[in-house]
Amino acid sequence: MQQSFIKSIEQAALAISQSDALVILAGAGMGVDSGLPDFRGKQGFWKAYPMLEQTGHSFTDLANPEAFEKTPELAWGFYGHRLNLYRKTTPHLGFEILKDWATTRPGGYFIYTSNVDGQFQKAGFDEHSIYECHGSIHHLQSLNGKGNIISADGFEIEVDANTLRAKDLIHSVDNGELLRPNILMFNDWYWNDTRSLAQQQRYKDWLIPLRSRKSKKVAMIEIGAGSALPAVRSQSTMIRNWLDSTYIQINPQLAHKADIGIALGALEALTNINAVIEAMR
Ligand SMILES: NC(=O)c1ccc[n+]([C@@H]2O[C@H](COP(=O)([O-])OP(=O)(O)OC[C@H]3O[C@@H](n4cnc5c(N)ncnc54)[C@H](O)[C@@H]3O)[C@@H](O)[C@H]2O)c1
Repeated sequence: MQQSFIKSIEQAALAISQSDALVILAGAGMGVDSGLPDFRGKQGFWKAYPMLEQTGHSFTDLANPEAFEKTPELAWGFYGHRLNLYRKTTPHLGFEILKDWATTRPGGYFIYTSNVDGQFQKAGFDEHSIYECHGSIHHLQSLNGKGNIISADGFEIEVDANTLRAKDLIHSVDNGELLRPNILMFNDWYWNDTRSLAQQQRYKDWLIPLRSRKSKKVAMIEIGAGSALPAVRSQSTMIRNWLDSTYIQINPQLAHKADIGIALGALEALTNINAVIEAMR
């Protein structure tokens, strides 16, 4: 461990161990140490999907409801590949460390994430303490956003690894219509946000009372949140301005000012903070 990180690791350990409640805010960087790609800029996206560089497709081209209407094999190829990847991924040890801290806070915890990958659920966090602000790839909806959101469990999709085109599409068993992931995409007027809104309500119900309980110490840990789509970073700043809390930011590329910034990857930072917490016990 470099000397320059020791002080911030110790400060984070103290803030977490003394906290009554924990807000965990996570972006794509949280999954990098589990082997999942983030999409930083076009180059980052094409590094993860080199076959799309050849065809000139960007993240915004595919994460778009129009793609499901015009080129459904490619749209489902991209999302099907991700669905398969997230299904077979094991969350790294950092999730376990976070869960240990979170579940031992007297005031509990909540997770705010723009990740659609379901890795917090997979790691065993309570489904009712997670707000997926951009939806979930493990859920499906109709193209026009009407009707119910259904689980993607039981639906399989095979993707040609060379062309990233789906060999089959996912259709409703009720009426045969084409389905898409229940994810907020670009230019998306059709996102069915009912599931996400219910999560948001539970998040507010948990968070808002913390403000009036001045005796409670709140720690916020933001991990791997990028700046291109700043949903998570904006949320961190908003909470920090609104609620008396300690804001810890973990990201190899630190950005705006947090109370404690740790310029390391998620797994390394969490492991090191945990070692200090263990030593304090
Ligand atoms: N797993 C997913 O669900 C997933 C993956 C990629 C993108 N997305 C979607 O893309 C959008 C952009 O997401 P974003 O801003 O979270 O991601 P981003 O790709 O723009 O940024 C990722 C961030 O993670 C940081 N990072 C890289 N390696 C890290 C590590 N080992 N540990 C900690 N941090 C690390 C980077 O410095 C960067 O700031 C979101 O809307 C999200 O829904 C989701």
